[in-house]
Amino acid sequence: MVGYTSMRGLLLKTLRFLYRWPVRALFFLFNSEIIHEVLTKMGERLGNGRLLKSLTGKLLRVDNSTIAQDLFNIQFRNPVGLAAGFDYEARLTQFLPSLGFGFESVGTITNSPYEGNPKPRLGRLIKSRSLLVNKGFKNLGIDEFINRHRNSHFEIPIGVSMGKTNGQQNMSQVDAINDIVSAFKKVIESKIPMSYLELNISCPNLFGNVEFYTPSHLKELLTAVCGLKLQKPLFIKMPIEKSDEETLAMMEAIVTFPVSAVIFGNLQKNRKDPAVCPEEAFKYEKGNLSGKPTERRSNELIKLVYKKYGSKIKIIGCGGVFSAEDAYKKIKLGASLVQLITGLIYVGPQLVSEINHGLIELLSRDGYKNIREAVGADVD
Ligand SMILES: Cc1cc2nc3c(=O)[nH]c(=O)nc-3n(C[C@H](O)[C@H](O)[C@H](O)COP(=O)(O)O)c2cc1C
Repeated sequence: MVGYTSMRGLLLKTLRFLYRWPVRALFFLFNSEIIHEVLTKMGERLGNGRLLKSLTGKLLRVDNSTIAQDLFNIQFRNPVGLAAGFDYEARLTQFLPSLGFGFESVGTITNSPYEGNPKPRLGRLIKSRSLLVNKGFKNLGIDEFINRHRNSHFEIPIGVSMGKTNGQQNMSQVDAINDIVSAFKKVIESKIPMSYLELNISCPNLFGNVEFYTPSHLKELLTAVCGLKLQKPLFIKMPIEKSDEETLAMMEAIVTFPVSAVIFGNLQKNRKDPAVCPEEAFKYEKGNLSGKPTERRSNELIKLVYKKYGSKIKIIGCGGVFSAEDAYKKIKLGASLVQLITGLIYVGPQLVSEINHGLIELLSRDGYKNIREAVGADVD
């Protein structure tokens, strides 16, 4: 944690301590999916009530021009977003601005609903600072999602993450494209005031053999999706398990389409990654890992892609952000924005505020007037 001094710094340190010991210790005694549901309900209630929301906002929101950016004609008050998967029903959109978030990806939503993969689909690898994820796009389906949110108003930029419907074993490559396109059509014709669209091609927990990693498959998908004239910036959520060569081949295809940003990236499939504690690696049979085991590869790919395509496309860094230093590292490797989930669970709800305050301090220490000047500063 950056050592900023002030009453606010002291408050954040106190919140961090209180979360770490009594609160997190208590949460971790219970099943992760139950705790996730309890916290979502709490966040939803707080988001609908004025007093606590405004009090939380006064304590945790950070408004400072050093960390604000205008990208793709969207105003980001700060670079820290909630990644897709935590708020998959968009129930936290009203509360997250009070925690200091600058933007949020809701979903992933699919054309048809899916009840989720068989349990266990969420677990903790505490020593590895990671979560086991095997939800496989548990979600309401796009029609119900639109019904619930067509009259919503959002204070921060909200993006809708979309992917292929799961649970249908025999879906062909062509059916998968039609399925994704159908969901995109519905959401762009809806009145949901989203700021961007996120295309998730990288969920490692899906059934069937459909894949969009082969450049020709990816081009077919992007031809169909971009043919819809989206009128909103399109981001692509990328895998981290592909080699440098495979990633560059995907990027070569992506930059020929009007794609505004790529997100690096999704979950870690490799349980032998050095960041996974060997005694926890096979605690769960199925699923993939978030948090610290994703960080190294996420950072390598941000750097690789920034070096070659940094002038053509923006990069969003996602994977293992647990502190301001972690976020700053991604920014200096080429990320304009960062996203997180697992850090929030391990460090606490004050984390976003800590990161924003820490970034202001780190940028000032290094003589940058705005975050834009630091993007890619560590890449030659
Ligand atoms: C519980 C959980 C559910 C997730 N579901 C999705 C999802 O639906 N769509 C998606 O693009 N990524 C999903 N992810 C991946 C995250 O968006 C993110 O890429 C990954 O967790 C790395 O970030 P982190 O280390 O900050 O958690 C999920 C992650 C978690 C922890």
